[in-house]
Amino acid sequence: MCGIIGYCGPRAAGEVLLDGLKRLEYRGYDSAGICVGFDNALTVVKSTGKIAHLRGIVPAALPGTYGIGHTRWATHGVVNDVNAHPHTNQAGDIAIVHNGIIENFSVLKEKLISEGHVFRSQTDSEVIAHLLSDFYEGDLEAALKAVLHLLQGTYGIICVHAQEPNRLVGARNGSPLVLAVGQNEMFLASDVMATLAHTKQVVYLEDGEVVSITNDAYHISELRGDKPISKKVEIISWELENIEKQGHSHFMEKEIFEQPESILRAIQGRLDPENATAHLGGLNMSNTELRDIERVKIVAAGTSFHAGLVASYLMESVAQIPCTAELASELRYRNPIVERNSLYFAVSQSGETIDTLSAMRELKRKGARVLGICNVIGSSIAREAGAGVYIHSGPEIAVASTKAFTSQLAAFYLFTLLISRMHNMSFEAGRGFIQNLSSLPDLVRQGFEQQNHIRALAEKYSHYRDFLFLGRGLNYPVALEGALKLKEISYIHAEGYSAAEIKHGPIALINDETPSIFLVPGDSLREKVISNMKEVKARRGKVIALCVADDEEVKNTADDIITIPKAGEMMYPFLMVVPLQLFAYYTALKLGRDVDQPRNLAKSVTVE
Ligand code: F6R
Repeated sequence: MCGIIGYCGPRAAGEVLLDGLKRLEYRGYDSAGICVGFDNALTVVKSTGKIAHLRGIVPAALPGTYGIGHTRWATHGVVNDVNAHPHTNQAGDIAIVHNGIIENFSVLKEKLISEGHVFRSQTDSEVIAHLLSDFYEGDLEAALKAVLHLLQGTYGIICVHAQEPNRLVGARNGSPLVLAVGQNEMFLASDVMATLAHTKQVVYLEDGEVVSITNDAYHISELRGDKPISKKVEIISWELENIEKQGHSHFMEKEIFEQPESILRAIQGRLDPENATAHLGGLNMSNTELRDIERVKIVAAGTSFHAGLVASYLMESVAQIPCTAELASELRYRNPIVERNSLYFAVSQSGETIDTLSAMRELKRKGARVLGICNVIGSSIAREAGAGVYIHSGPEIAVASTKAFTSQLAAFYLFTLLISRMHNMSFEAGRGFIQNLSSLPDLVRQGFEQQNHIRALAEKYSHYRDFLFLGRGLNYPVALEGALKLKEISYIHAEGYSAAEIKHGPIALINDETPSIFLVPGDSLREKVISNMKEVKARRGKVIALCVADDEEVKNTADDIITIPKAGEMMYPFLMVVPLQLFAYYTALKLGRDVDQPRNLAKSVTVE
């Protein structure tokens, strides 16, 4: 939520900042702005709308080789030009960009106003600029440290002072900030995607650290105390092409079609057919510790939560280990009981979701062992967990999560195999599980043969305003995920339910205006789901069914079908979710929605 960037170097800062902001736009796109320093003066250009609009209003030859930028997801204050960042002090010689929420801003603002400060915006962030001007005595870093002691809440901040050219100061607490080290140039940014075009060398900053950069040097110190901190420069493995659309119309399309490869990356090198098990070295757990696990608990948000729910069904049924998944936002405020011999997973594509991060901290405080399942290497959850599984999806840029979901599933399937083989699973069953997992990339690819048919169906059904997504067992969470995908990118109302649950209420919604999408894999619950489908048909409900190719009964009952390849019973969540992602994508396309950046949303939810 909100992307920030800072640049110090020899190049025209305006261009560098705009390019970086474009890469950060997935974090928020309500408004955007930059501030560039030149000749002991700061120029701010900011506006409502996306980066493309900002680019149009930034003067072509804006002089200045250092500056800061921001792309906003509004929290405090409506979306308008004034509330866009950067914010300045009254004199206009200090500017700041901020990602996070200053919880005590109203008290601070009131005090500043009583002392004569005049505020322009309704944001919480503007207080930082005013406070900096009060504390500034010739050293921006010292002033920022003094101000940070007064702030309560979360922040990634970068600030600049006109009297300290080619120097930026930044700090983080609860919102991400990365230092990127280039050739005679330095960057600060919310994430590495903003700077990947310039350098692969990064330093991940921690909460409570303050960083000061010039063209060719950086200095990191503790907020509390002046002790310099020496940190490892890490090399990012992502390539620039990973963050380009590569011929696709949208990142979402690219990411859906990447899934055969991303699933393969998640499982590659981790399967051990000889011993019919999996290797997950990042868990940092001995076999004895793994064997001692009596229950597993998963915390996550949104799509990652749905992956966790699938895992909870899987782990109980295959590994026979009690497993539950819970929304991180709920867990963190309900005083959770941490039981002995429990293992916790915090699942997050971005590794920055504040609810998941906070739930993880709460659990750790109470003595829990929490492993991370993350995509973004070096992200807060990955670092604070200290151990876990990287899913290696590569950058996921579309706001709607797709490939991360299937890779999170893959990580859980690997863990289930590993732990099952230590508990109750036979060698033969382990071999079968491996075979099924290994076949997934090809099966997902095979499923893409339905692409044009799914597109035609999406167009046919795109005028409906309400949908139900219905599945059972492992595919119940997939139904939730299908509904989430459709509503977030097409703005059509959709609800996911267990197919069995509709009789307990939702069936009242069924009429010829509310289509239902049924997930009917060839599994042990098939007959039951077909009965639920017939109940909907009996009430004139339209039905689209996802089923295997030769399922005549489903074919004869549903109005339309999408066929999926036959697979091992446990593997259907992978094969069911991809057509649902495509259905949502093509529906949104037909309705002319902003697929990659749907309204009101942002990827990486770093505020509560
Ligand atoms: C939905 C979506 C969100 C995220 C959720 C958690 O398409 O993208 O629901 O899944 O915000 O994000 P991460 O996985 O980054 O913690």
